Amino acid sequence: MKHHLPLHHHILLIFLLQQRLRLGNNNVQKVKLFDADTNTMVALAGSGIEVMVAIPNDQLKAMGSYNRAKDWVRRNITPLFNIQKALNEAGVGDFIKATVPSNADVYSSPPDNPVPSAGTFRQDIYEEMRLIVNFLAHNKAPFTVNIYPFLSLYLSSDFPFDYAFFNGQNTVNDNGVVYTNVFDANFDTLLASLKELGHGDMTVIVGEVGWPTDGDKNANIPNAERFYAGLLPKLAANRGTPMRPGYIEVYLFGFIDEDAKSIAPGNFERHWGIFKYDGQPKFPADLSGEGQKKALTGAQNVQYLQSQWCMLNPNAISFSNSTNQLGDNVNYACTFSDCTALGYGSSCGNLDEVGNASYAFNMYFQVQNQKAEACDFEGLAMITTRNISRDQCNFPIQIGDPTSGHCMYGSSVRFGLVSMLLLFIAL
Ligand SMILES: *[C@@H]1O[C@H](CO)[C@@H](O)[C@H](O)[C@H]1NC(C)=O
Ligand SMILES: *[C@@H]1O[C@H](CO)[C@@H](O)[C@H](O)[C@H]1NC(C)=O
Ligand SMILES: *[C@@H]1O[C@H](CO)[C@@H](O)[C@H](O)[C@H]1NC(C)=O
Repeated sequence: MKHHLPLHHHILLIFLLQQRLRLGNNNVQKVKLFDADTNTMVALAGSGIEVMVAIPNDQLKAMGSYNRAKDWVRRNITPLFNIQKALNEAGVGDFIKATVPSNADVYSSPPDNPVPSAGTFRQDIYEEMRLIVNFLAHNKAPFTVNIYPFLSLYLSSDFPFDYAFFNGQNTVNDNGVVYTNVFDANFDTLLASLKELGHGDMTVIVGEVGWPTDGDKNANIPNAERFYAGLLPKLAANRGTPMRPGYIEVYLFGFIDEDAKSIAPGNFERHWGIFKYDGQPKFPADLSGEGQKKALTGAQNVQYLQSQWCMLNPNAISFSNSTNQLGDNVNYACTFSDCTALGYGSSCGNLDEVGNASYAFNMYFQVQNQKAEACDFEGLAMITTRNISRDQCNFPIQIGDPTSGHCMYGSSVRFGLVSMLLLFIAL
């Protein structure tokens, strides 16, 4: 994952996790990292927090040495097999397991019988999935799936809204078994698909589940709060699903917003965090699952740069000069920062053209750590100390040490053994 603020994000992650150690109040027991970054691993060492590590795609290629196979399943079989083999040969295969996270689109129920018990792996990748499942079973490794009720809603305008949550009225009746939410139905569709391959009892881990808070009309704080308020108590109570009552291992996605993530899936992709870019919680959530409406512990003593913003200079813009000049500058600002809050239905979706331009200029200015030359835009922009945020639409201030820009928090961290549960392969 590339960030505009790698240093800051590391520090935040370390902050939040160290606070968990000291204060123990966010109840985080396991984390999944998308790269095995040394600073973060060191921060986690000896914490008692279990870690799942993803191997980035570019490194996977090196491990698989495949010839650009056509579909992702094939791409991942060889690395999966090679990695587990290496683990077995190194004598650690019993407690470090390789697995491939699948998205929930590798299986489904037939349209004429859309119930979980009719679940089956997709016909076009059936053989590859069979190989993977048999391999995982042979190595006693879990099947890992990412389940996103938000995406069900995002991808289909017909999707019954309440069914994405855990307290809705929509239900599906599967031969007398009543499903009240798509998470359970999806999980059980996978179990039925595994059963068809003779592995109905395979351990299944939910590698990612969560709800984004910006970048789409359904990606907002009230919906995310509602989703987690249903999910967390359900998990804590070990209710499981109709087909598999009891404990399910689940990883929430994600921790902090990522302002440089690819937005190919949609503008919401940068807004999956339970915490904002500055490590502050977005909404109350009880990670202990006791269902209390309590505030999460945010990062403490976060430093912000000065309270100053970059905006469109009302005097500089004559608008008689080619309007492309403004458009081009806004485009430039958005290309090198993050304007995903500007889209339809998003937190800043109601701004006019002037507001849009100021938002874009400010995002660029903050990403550039408020360097004066980053607030010029051919003379169209100016710095202001007036907070130009509006209602729901926050014009953020960059985090970081306002004097030096360098922090050395890592030195206080104890060394120790990170208990690594799973070696995790990213798709
Ligand atoms: C618009 O005016 C600015 C100076 O104010 C100048 O730099 C820019 O080249 C002009 N753009 C066009 C398209 O004339
Ligand atoms: C503001 O920017 C967004 C995203 O680029 C765009 O969809 C919207 O149309 C813009 N609004 C105006 C009034 O220009
Ligand atoms: C600016 O104002 C918004 C509310 O409109 C507020 O949420 C935000 O914290 C303010 N920012 C600063 C740096 O004071």
